[in-house]
Amino acid sequence: MTSILVLNGPNLNLLGQRQPEVYGRTTLQDVEDMCVASGKDAGLDVICMQSNHEGVMIDAIHAAKGTHGGIVLNAGAYTHTSIALRDAIASVELPVVEVHLSNIHAREAFRHHSHIAPVALGQIAGFGPQGYDLAIQVLAKHLEPKT
Ligand code: DQA
Repeated sequence: MTSILVLNGPNLNLLGQRQPEVYGRTTLQDVEDMCVASGKDAGLDVICMQSNHEGVMIDAIHAAKGTHGGIVLNAGAYTHTSIALRDAIASVELPVVEVHLSNIHAREAFRHHSHIAPVALGQIAGFGPQGYDLAIQVLAKHLEPKT
């Protein structure tokens, strides 16, 4: 079965406790369990990982090449700052779906720009944890063998 990586970045380990008025009460464990279940429905093995460290995330993206068919990425605040993450994605040439729980375009101006978006298949923002489910469905469709 094809596998995909669901990679969450800085501060997302605090989901459920962190600014619940913005990010909701769902914990990271809940999100990851939901991703595994969505993957199962879509015929994908889902491997979840979270890191607060940019370099660890870059290593995970490099390691995904040859291991996973694609990546669902919520890079947290690195979305708005990290050219290194963008370069890592461009280097591995894997389909990446960018996810944000909140609608970054409706928030502070510094969140409106994503370094990830130009190298991603697309961006899903503002639908809370459901965004991960949508991203997995998009990747599953994208990875379907073309006949
Ligand atoms: C976030 C949005 C980012 O701006 C923020 O820094 C996060 C979470 C989201 O999921 O809505 O950490 O990626």
